[in-house]
Amino acid sequence: MSVEVPLLDLVGQYEAIRGELDAAVARVAASQRFIMGPEVEALEREIADYCGAGEGVGCASGSEALLLVYMALGVGPGDAVVCPSFTFFSTAGSVARLGARPVFADIDPVTYNVTAETVARALEGQPRVKAIVPVHLFGQALELAELEAVAGEIPLVEDAAQAIGSVDGTGRRVGQGAHPVCLSFFPSKNLGAWGDGGMILASDPDLVKRLQILRVHGGEPKYYHEVLGLNGRLDAIQAAVLRAKLPHLESWHAGRVANAAFYDASFKSAGAAASDVPLDQGGLPLRTPLAPKPPARHIYNQYVIRVPEDRRDALRAHLTEQRIGTEIYYPVPLHLQGCFAGLGGRPGDLPHAEAAARETLALPIYPELTQPQLEHVVEAVVGFLS
Ligand SMILES: Cc1ncc(COP(=O)(O)O)c(C=O)c1O
Repeated sequence: MSVEVPLLDLVGQYEAIRGELDAAVARVAASQRFIMGPEVEALEREIADYCGAGEGVGCASGSEALLLVYMALGVGPGDAVVCPSFTFFSTAGSVARLGARPVFADIDPVTYNVTAETVARALEGQPRVKAIVPVHLFGQALELAELEAVAGEIPLVEDAAQAIGSVDGTGRRVGQGAHPVCLSFFPSKNLGAWGDGGMILASDPDLVKRLQILRVHGGEPKYYHEVLGLNGRLDAIQAAVLRAKLPHLESWHAGRVANAAFYDASFKSAGAAASDVPLDQGGLPLRTPLAPKPPARHIYNQYVIRVPEDRRDALRAHLTEQRIGTEIYYPVPLHLQGCFAGLGGRPGDLPHAEAAARETLALPIYPELTQPQLEHVVEAVVGFLS
């Protein structure tokens, strides 16, 4: 029987630091303080410091972080927000929830992130754009200087749900800088909670205050509501779990980076190239993520390969047979999602996002993978594509 390789297995992580995690949860149980309080405040400080950010505002999830920032920026009916088409749903879903219109930008086929050019194209002819939302997809930070120039006065909101600890090509760590940054602590993230959780990093004190009020129903002081907020709080048990995990995050990033390097080298020696070489240019029909050039750091929340579209689903089925978990992030670009049909998106509008949706596949990358597991993945992928 071949080695089994789940897409993600958090049991190994838990077993490795079980004492610390159980003690953290027991601490909250002993205090019986479950909503906000010292654990959440301490986590906010620790995450802000880790990211080099001004302040942290803990909240219920990454989706809620986006929603709260859009609310704080006054996004509402009649407004537009530019975001990538190739991202997790809630980057745009949280826009539509507020009655505003997501406007979708195409991506760079090499990094899968938006570029200044694709955003400039999305902005053409769009009135009332309230925000532009670059997503640091899969854990690869995009550089913001050119995007800032295109944005002008329009605020940028960084969706860093997959990119805590990532560093861009200029040496900027995600979280440093002037723009609000949204993090997710969904369990599959490099820093994952035992449930849902999120945080906004921000440096503008007025924005921080607005976010803190909005996440408690807009009450300030309590039970006095000048603004309409929601229940968007992070709970103390999640904060305690995340505080226990944070000191290990660097070593987990390093494990993912090492696994990615193993995959990169193994696939390369089998004839693959990186994603900056188009698939039709020969060699093994597989493209690896473009490895970052220092000082950039990719944290590999996902390790996503690109293969010809007519082989992707068959490769996935083959890997399933070989007991290897995979996932397609994401099979339908957002401009073609049913719930956004009213926005008029058509196949062919954003060709790079559409091609990525047809050609990409995420492989297991979590730090606890063993050498036999990594080798099994490489052998199964290469064996199928050769
Ligand atoms: C790019 C991106 N944005 C937003 C989110 C939403 O985060 P959450 O699942 O914590 O609501 C995710 C999480 O999957 C994500 O990957």
